[in-house]
Amino acid sequence: MRLQAKNACHSASRSARLQTCKVQIQCTAGNHNNNAPCLLASKTQPEAVKLGRKLASIALAAAVALSPLVPAAGVAASEAVATSDAALELQQAYDKYSASYDELDGGAAAEALGFPQLRAELLAQAWGRTLEVAVGTGLNLQYYSWAAPPPSTSTSALPAAAAAAAAAAPASSSSGREGVTSLDTVDLSPGMLAQARARVRGSSGLAGRPIAFQQADVAALPYADASFDTVVDTFSLCVFPDPQAAMNELARVVRPAAAGGGGGGRLLLLEHSRSDNPLLAAYQDATAGPVAALGKGCVWNQDVEGLAARAGLRVTRAERFAAGTVELLVAEKR
Ligand SMILES: C[S@@+](CC[C@H](N)C(=O)[O-])C[C@H]1O[C@@H](n2cnc3c(N)ncnc32)[C@H](O)[C@@H]1O
Repeated sequence: MRLQAKNACHSASRSARLQTCKVQIQCTAGNHNNNAPCLLASKTQPEAVKLGRKLASIALAAAVALSPLVPAAGVAASEAVATSDAALELQQAYDKYSASYDELDGGAAAEALGFPQLRAELLAQAWGRTLEVAVGTGLNLQYYSWAAPPPSTSTSALPAAAAAAAAAAPASSSSGREGVTSLDTVDLSPGMLAQARARVRGSSGLAGRPIAFQQADVAALPYADASFDTVVDTFSLCVFPDPQAAMNELARVVRPAAAGGGGGGRLLLLEHSRSDNPLLAAYQDATAGPVAALGKGCVWNQDVEGLAARAGLRVTRAERFAAGTVELLVAEKR
């Protein structure tokens, strides 16, 4: 089996890739009536390429499965918030994805890649006044460690991964930081926000928590400089029309590192990233267009550490997963 993938939108804008790219994927042997399965690697390919194809096949298969998406019922989209045409296109696209989003990003493929555990590990480090941008359907909400116990929920209601990560997290125990005191969340898509609100209403561990939802574009966050102790983003830098502008905004609203260490603000990031394996990185570069077109706009070869450095952030922890294609970063503002 040989794969030929032509990215007809190699030089197109991100929004054009999302909406209009024509991805041509042909299997030159075998009887394939679906593009996704033909990405499974031939036995003669190097290991890194095989792994890359497997990862891409997960993204593509899921995207294909989600293609007949219907708009979420009762969602009134506001066009006033998006700061660009590209952002508005994403807003409308995610309104359509919202009802089915959890089947992909919270489903079996995500679990196979260990994403729930990574979310738990990351979010156990949140503390104080916290902002989560691009909150989506709220897949992270269950993983926050709160400063005060919930009105009527015991810790046994926490998912096992969250409880284990909270127990292992160094942040609150070693620095005297004692969990999240309030959580502001933003997303551009009213449909995604509606799902997140419903998640909170339906969870005894979340209902009654100080969680606020607001429709906003990450490129123009409605908060003053240095407003937050913790700023969180997961799996969204790859989607934003201008990832650098987004990272700059995250850096703007987080409190600077405290002189002498301890007590300063921090950014918590879990992102699709260009692999540190050169072969796999080359594969990501070559397939970024098709993957974005079929994978809800995610451009999966982001230089996340470069974006952070250019935003004036210092990375204090960086770990890679999924063959280097997912990066967990903790950063502070210099
Ligand atoms: C791939 S989803 C990730 C959602 C969530 N962070 C998670 O980890 O499951 C990307 C999210 O980014 C949001 N988004 C896209 N562009 C945005 C923008 N310019 N400002 C704010 N949110 C945006 C989408 O509506 C969507 O909810």
